[in-house]
Amino acid sequence: MSEEKIIVIDFGGQYNQLVARRVRECNVYCEIVSYKTPISKIMAQSPRGLILTGGPSSCYEEGAASCEKALFECGIPVLGLCYGAQLMQHVLGGKVERAAMREYGHTELSVDTLSPLFKDVPQETECFMSHFDHITALAEGFKTIAHTKNCPFAAVADDDRKLYGLQFHPEVLHTPYGKTMIKNFVRNICDTKGTWEMGAFVERTINSLRERIGEKKVLLALSGGVDSSVLAALLSRAVGKQLTCVFVDHGLLRKNEGDEVEAVFGPSGSFDLNFIRVDAKERFLRDLSGVTEPEQKRKIIGRDFIEVFEEEAKKIGTVDFFAQGTIYPDVVESGLGGESAVIKSHHNVGGLPDHVDFKELIEPLRNLFKDEVREVGRKLSIPEELVSRQPFPGPGLSVRIMGEVTEEKVRIVQDCDFIFRDEIRKAVEALEERPSWMPDQYFAALTNMRSVGVMGDERTYDNAIALRAVITSDFMTAESAEIPYEVLHTVMNRIINEVRGVNRVFYDLTSKPPGTIEME
Ligand code: XMP
Repeated sequence: MSEEKIIVIDFGGQYNQLVARRVRECNVYCEIVSYKTPISKIMAQSPRGLILTGGPSSCYEEGAASCEKALFECGIPVLGLCYGAQLMQHVLGGKVERAAMREYGHTELSVDTLSPLFKDVPQETECFMSHFDHITALAEGFKTIAHTKNCPFAAVADDDRKLYGLQFHPEVLHTPYGKTMIKNFVRNICDTKGTWEMGAFVERTINSLRERIGEKKVLLALSGGVDSSVLAALLSRAVGKQLTCVFVDHGLLRKNEGDEVEAVFGPSGSFDLNFIRVDAKERFLRDLSGVTEPEQKRKIIGRDFIEVFEEEAKKIGTVDFFAQGTIYPDVVESGLGGESAVIKSHHNVGGLPDHVDFKELIEPLRNLFKDEVREVGRKLSIPEELVSRQPFPGPGLSVRIMGEVTEEKVRIVQDCDFIFRDEIRKAVEALEERPSWMPDQYFAALTNMRSVGVMGDERTYDNAIALRAVITSDFMTAESAEIPYEVLHTVMNRIINEVRGVNRVFYDLTSKPPGTIEME
């Protein structure tokens, strides 16, 4: 059965992935392609509808990102968002001009509730606007279906050709009924059934992995992070012991994490696979000894990781497949999917080794967003602590220890981090719902500062720990989380009392930018 599909055509807008996620939330599969993709290639995928994203250009300027008129003549519904809506008008004969004033932020919106795009949307609502240009005259066949105080053509439609344009952004949460509008387009106007669902994905993927792998062998570098863990579980269900997972324990994981990974995937866990845990702690510590420069630390860890992994892989002999936990944002961000390519500045330790002897790459999570990967993990009965794990950098605690990494410092940062996470968990569990201050990533880091303190009657000269907790959705920008003072106070008390070698605790208030999330 071919999957119902919507194609998001990316004109460089900053919300392209969000648009795709919203479509998937309607249980319809969706992919992002660049606006440069030929129409024939788009139509070869038999999409049920197209969505044109926002973008930074002005559609009437020379060289602006554009599309052919034929795109609107394919006989399938098209929804243009912001730039996409302007472009649709521009290409079909309407007029787009620079507005007297930039419109930005929450705006009151009056909609024509008879339009199929606005089914179940109240007549008076709000939308999020962000534009310099606006539509000043409509192309033939179009009518206005929503307006704001300053924008007479906030939403336009040609119901006969099923062409729709929204000057605002329905994909962001600041447009409260945006999800409903997208659902109306995707499910009703594009006439889809909504069959994209993670349970079905798991079954289908297991079957196709079995078919592809046959009797052959698969190798996976398991890090204990969400993506590689879900991949291990999926492959285990598909081919059992034909899968070998190599878990390189570099000793820079969070407290007890190595054992937790082993408990889930090792011989006493519930997955049928070969599990090899390589204890390479000493090697990493030895190679990091005396090194203080952050990038050099990263490089050493990356290199050691690949070497250790290769040594293990050699022992296994030739394998046919190498499995990798690439997910959809990696594909889009590496420039293969959409247009607004952001090249990642970090690489995961455990990226594809160059010289391991394998024949083919398997990437079954390639089309999934992170929350979909987590959902797959739940369907495969991976423990919730692992499935909902916060992001953790490949180089591990080495980037949370300023300056040289030593065994003693690893112990300190692990213990402090454990206490911090434990107290956040307790504070959140005591509440009925997720608090607004709940950080998306939080951890302890060891500064390279020592300072004077007093404990009992003794003078101390010890380390300072920094607590970092951020709220972010994309990890590109972040705000420090407003964790209640009592929680921070309890964490400070416990750290000072329980962790030897620490006599001062700071809370990092820096947002990103100018700070980064990690300190190195
Ligand atoms: P920064 O520190 O750049 O981090 O604000 C953004 C996100 O990326 C994670 N991070 C890394 N992940 N290898 C990784 O796999 C790395 O070298 C690395 N450095 C930072 C960080 O934890 C945050 O989620």
